[in-house]
Amino acid sequence: MELTRRRALQLGLIGAAGAVVGGVGLARQGWSPLGDRGPTGVAPGAASTPAGSVGWAEPGVLHAVDGLLEVDLVAATTTTVIGGRAARLLAYSGTTPGSTWRLTPGDRLRVRLRNELDAPTNLHVHGLHVPPTGAGDDPFVRVEPGAGHDYDYTVPSDHPTGTFWYHPHHHGTVADQVSGGLHGAIVLTEPDPPPVAADRVMVVSDVSLTTDGQLAPVTAMDRMLGREGDLVLVNGLLAPTLDTAAGAVERWRVVNACVARYLHLDLQGVPMTLLGIDGGREPAPTPVTGVVLAPGNRADLLVTVPGGTTVLRTLPVDRGHAMMARSPGGRTPVELLTVRGSGAPDAAAPSPSLAGPVPRDLRPLTPARTRDVTLAMGMGRGMGGGMSVTIDGREFDPTRTDLAVRLGDVEEWTFRNTSTMNHPMHLHVWPMQVVARNGDPVTGTQWRDVVDVPAGGTTTVRVAFDDYPGTTVVHCHVLDHEDLGMMATVIAR
Ligand code: C2O
Ligand code: CU
Repeated sequence: MELTRRRALQLGLIGAAGAVVGGVGLARQGWSPLGDRGPTGVAPGAASTPAGSVGWAEPGVLHAVDGLLEVDLVAATTTTVIGGRAARLLAYSGTTPGSTWRLTPGDRLRVRLRNELDAPTNLHVHGLHVPPTGAGDDPFVRVEPGAGHDYDYTVPSDHPTGTFWYHPHHHGTVADQVSGGLHGAIVLTEPDPPPVAADRVMVVSDVSLTTDGQLAPVTAMDRMLGREGDLVLVNGLLAPTLDTAAGAVERWRVVNACVARYLHLDLQGVPMTLLGIDGGREPAPTPVTGVVLAPGNRADLLVTVPGGTTVLRTLPVDRGHAMMARSPGGRTPVELLTVRGSGAPDAAAPSPSLAGPVPRDLRPLTPARTRDVTLAMGMGRGMGGGMSVTIDGREFDPTRTDLAVRLGDVEEWTFRNTSTMNHPMHLHVWPMQVVARNGDPVTGTQWRDVVDVPAGGTTTVRVAFDDYPGTTVVHCHVLDHEDLGMMATVIAR
């Protein structure tokens, strides 16, 4: 039903405001796509397809050469095309998403960031286990408009492979800049990757635009709930069509770059094979019919392309409410991508496996320390303050020490969510092993860098602070909540 509605929307048959009926004051002023033109601002290869949809395209790829990837990264505004209409977005070196960076563990990555925005920015390599100090993954760096910063990371040679991503992290502007278009994928490849017909990146983002294609203003309520854009894009494209060969086994790397929207990926019930989430690999490739990704999570999937036309959608995910307002994510399915598989499938395509080291399991250990980390939303201090979002009762202060850990320790943290909304918690530098949800032990070895903490519930993780002294952060990856203060410092020494 909603597909029909969205298709009608793409064809310009109904106004965009009609698509957000029952929202929480989110209705925009009638921006509606024309849906008949290919994109700009993404790598070549885009082509128009019939039925009012744009062709598939992926961000350009930058490969490490001889163990080194050097990137010039310019953050600036750009004009692109979404659904056949000009849109004024933010871009990395002219494209949104930015280029995909492909490296292997052991490689060195150097990024020269230049800020041509009108607000401060910086860069975070989300999920990479690299130092938070020096020219590394330091979230406290502030790059003023017109200025630059040189980052230099070495990916450890025993780093997990998988899909990671990069985005700005300047406290207070993160949600605006990420939803505006500043995000890109990082792929760490296996030395011996499974043979696939295609290895694709699918960066999912959402954005709201005004009638004239500008980024829509955001209300205090949007920020409190976490904004969900009216337009859900894949690689910057509105509901593109991917033409490919039926029966081909493809690897799909889906990045949830949305500020607040949870994705529940569904290929109309067609089984997919889950290789891993974030840097955490499944013990064995696992058949699934759906995958839920909190903001910031990535899924690494194998898909055998069905013959004919199939739609990849995201199904509603209820992530709770604040005061009387319910988050819009619980409402309707949204079409992400149409897959058209042509030709006759080969007989029983082989199902590739993924060899690799068995992930470490911290569960048999006794943690050096256990702590509760309490997440809350409450009435803000002062006049007109809306709600406050806090960790252990405090809003973010970069000068304060919140969580001091000892290098070499394994700690167990229980995130306790006292609020009525879910909070996807992200720890920089060190991956987290989920050991319990709402007190129930999990099965299998689940390594993540974003863990969902359900409204009124708990999620318990273990973290091995093996290396990298320095100061970094843990925060909610509903990036509006991070900007509002749901972030704490973590000091390892
Ligand atoms: Cu993807 Cu601290 O963020
Ligand atoms: Cu949150």
